[in-house]
Amino acid sequence: MGWAHRVLSGAGGVHSGMAHPSRHHPRHLLQLRGMNADGIRSLLSAAQAHDGMKPEGAALAGRTVATLFLEDSTRTRTSFQLAARRLGAEVVDLSGVGLSTSKGETLADTARTIEAMGVDAIVVRASQAGAPHLIADSVRCGVLNAGDGRHEHPTQGLLDALALARAKNLTGTFDFSGLTFAIVGDLGASRVARSDIEIMTMLGARVLLVGPAAMVPGGMGERDGVEIERDMDRAIDQADAVQMLRVQFERHGGRGIASVREYRAGYALTVERARRMKDGAVVMHPGPMNRGLEIDDAVADGSDGLPRSIVLDQVSCGLPVRMAAIERAVGVEIDVSGRA
Ligand code: CP
Repeated sequence: MGWAHRVLSGAGGVHSGMAHPSRHHPRHLLQLRGMNADGIRSLLSAAQAHDGMKPEGAALAGRTVATLFLEDSTRTRTSFQLAARRLGAEVVDLSGVGLSTSKGETLADTARTIEAMGVDAIVVRASQAGAPHLIADSVRCGVLNAGDGRHEHPTQGLLDALALARAKNLTGTFDFSGLTFAIVGDLGASRVARSDIEIMTMLGARVLLVGPAAMVPGGMGERDGVEIERDMDRAIDQADAVQMLRVQFERHGGRGIASVREYRAGYALTVERARRMKDGAVVMHPGPMNRGLEIDDAVADGSDGLPRSIVLDQVSCGLPVRMAAIERAVGVEIDVSGRA
């Protein structure tokens, strides 16, 4: 079913002559840090109103979204592109093509060049933290951060919250008070962890950061609603959701891990550990997974007798979340007032 859309006041993209939106302009989605719970709940409600799997008509007909992925991606790039198309927008994919940055063009000039062709929103992934902010300072159109270095991955945080809310029947309130959300593993290298910490605490969850000191620096736990737990078994005794993180060998070459065997003994979500999770607790992983390292196959797949895995629900939630984020970026808002 299609939902009514309205163009937000002052919106109109690069062609409207609107004042230059700074990086603080509400249409950008650069990071979850600094947003408030109302803003987050409004985005999640808009996402929940989209089915995500069905064509939505032409809310964004005539609009163009550019995807600029300077780092590899399967889930995020595909779902941003599908989301834009489901809304009727045209998609220009600049990922993996030979860009003129190789000739010395700056990222800011590349972004301005893309925008000058009439693009209404730029989705960017980069290995440098802050690259989306730099682009947002250089263009007038909406900018969406699809993951920047070790900084943030805001749409991943949103889709993790949507998947958890659906699993716990909390889409009416998006209030996670009383829930304990454990994030396990390579947190220091993880932009997903940073966005998850922001959103889960904002929605009222207690967050446990679980891992060895080399991967979970003590400073990460120094904020309200967040605790560090070095003992994985104690963490899974308490958690209502366990978000396993990939060990990011490409970022640190495995420094901080004495051996794979030792890492698995301390922090993997093995079948044996999964069997001891609380009743109703769910298994999560943002992907891509190192099966057999941080998570056992049967646990990732939610095999019989094991806790429910919502790993693929997380992927599915990427579509409606990115639809809502794109609409906001181009200044079109779904009207959720008639939602049940
Ligand atoms: N979770 C995530 O960002 O996956 P991709 O790297 O495949 O986009």
